[in-house]
Amino acid sequence: MMSPMKVQRQFPRWKTVKPLLGWHLPRFDGVDRKLQRCITIQDLRTLATHRVPKAVYDYVDGAANEEISLGRARETFSRIEFRPRVLRDVSSVDLSTTILGRSSDLPIIFAPTGYTRMMHYSGEIGIATVATQHNLVYSLSTMGTTSAQELGDAVSQSRRWFQLYVWRDREQTRSFVAQAKDAGFEALILTVDTPVAGQRNRDIRNGLTVPPKINSKTFFNMATKMKWWFNVLTTPALEFATFRQFTRPLSEIAATFFDASVTFEDLAWLKSIWGGPIIVKGIQSVADAKMLAKMGVDAIVLSNHGGRQLDCGVVPLELLPEVVAAVGKKMEIYIDGGVMSGKDILAAIGFGADAVLIGRAYLYGAMAGGMAGVEKCIEILAQEMKTTMQLTGVTSIAEFTSEYVNLRQN
Ligand code: GLV
Repeated sequence: MMSPMKVQRQFPRWKTVKPLLGWHLPRFDGVDRKLQRCITIQDLRTLATHRVPKAVYDYVDGAANEEISLGRARETFSRIEFRPRVLRDVSSVDLSTTILGRSSDLPIIFAPTGYTRMMHYSGEIGIATVATQHNLVYSLSTMGTTSAQELGDAVSQSRRWFQLYVWRDREQTRSFVAQAKDAGFEALILTVDTPVAGQRNRDIRNGLTVPPKINSKTFFNMATKMKWWFNVLTTPALEFATFRQFTRPLSEIAATFFDASVTFEDLAWLKSIWGGPIIVKGIQSVADAKMLAKMGVDAIVLSNHGGRQLDCGVVPLELLPEVVAAVGKKMEIYIDGGVMSGKDILAAIGFGADAVLIGRAYLYGAMAGGMAGVEKCIEILAQEMKTTMQLTGVTSIAEFTSEYVNLRQN
């Protein structure tokens, strides 16, 4: 048997211990250290739960019915398998790409999201400002809390797209299109997965209204979210900018405005009155993608509205290769839903997407820390994309093809 090694011990000395100490006295210099410690979008999501009322968080985090679509999107992303190549010079990586003919620093588009000033008072203008600083497209929702004109005036350098539903009132629709044109919007995104509103059980249970009401249910939660309430009460009233003064429950609003009779003919009409690039969002079948390519739309978004409309819809990442094979390069193809990391984005690019829309990811950032939180979200996604590309042996977005990615079957 070997005899135990004799170790010479010494008393710990302050000189060696001091550099190992990881704590220091709290500093009050305005830097949000909890936000700065976030290293994943999931971290931003967790921080968001501490910073906004539950009903607001649930509105962002939740989806329709049993939330199966959203869960499946996440599960599908978890099956990504990269097929790296080695011994290549990856010391410098270019994450930029081209979206509708113009350069974008990342293959990311800010998705339209409703009621954004409810998540953080800096709202659409703050978020569009961050997007613009990174040379990224920002999409403004018709259900936004900032109007097209307000956004255009405040962030005039932004690359901005306007999201639209064809409303029951066609004259109203025409007026939204005119407003977007006057406010310098580059493209229209027509959302087509909303003939009726999805059933969002969390919002119904929470009785969510805009602005959220203070009632016995929300009162106790409110006490722990004082900063959020202070900001809501001391900034301009939270209301839908395109139809101000509407304060009915969210579940009723959509039912009042969406039109269950919208068809491809309405899209042709919209195309004729807009006269610029059109993106159709909410495509869930190869047949529809083919029809839209034939109609000459500029891009489509394979999307089930982040699982917020029809539950158990097709998973966009799984549909993507079929659509790419069917329509080729006739129009740009984007996907969205459940994107939580840079590697999710790269996988979509590998399967043929031209770009990926993020919604919840930047809203988690906004809820966690306003504009700094959105900045953090972009930083996280860009860093994850860069590292994944380097480890895969690829140095540009255009080179990231299906050669480098696969979806495991289990
Ligand atoms: C709006 O488009 C939403 O999903 O709430």
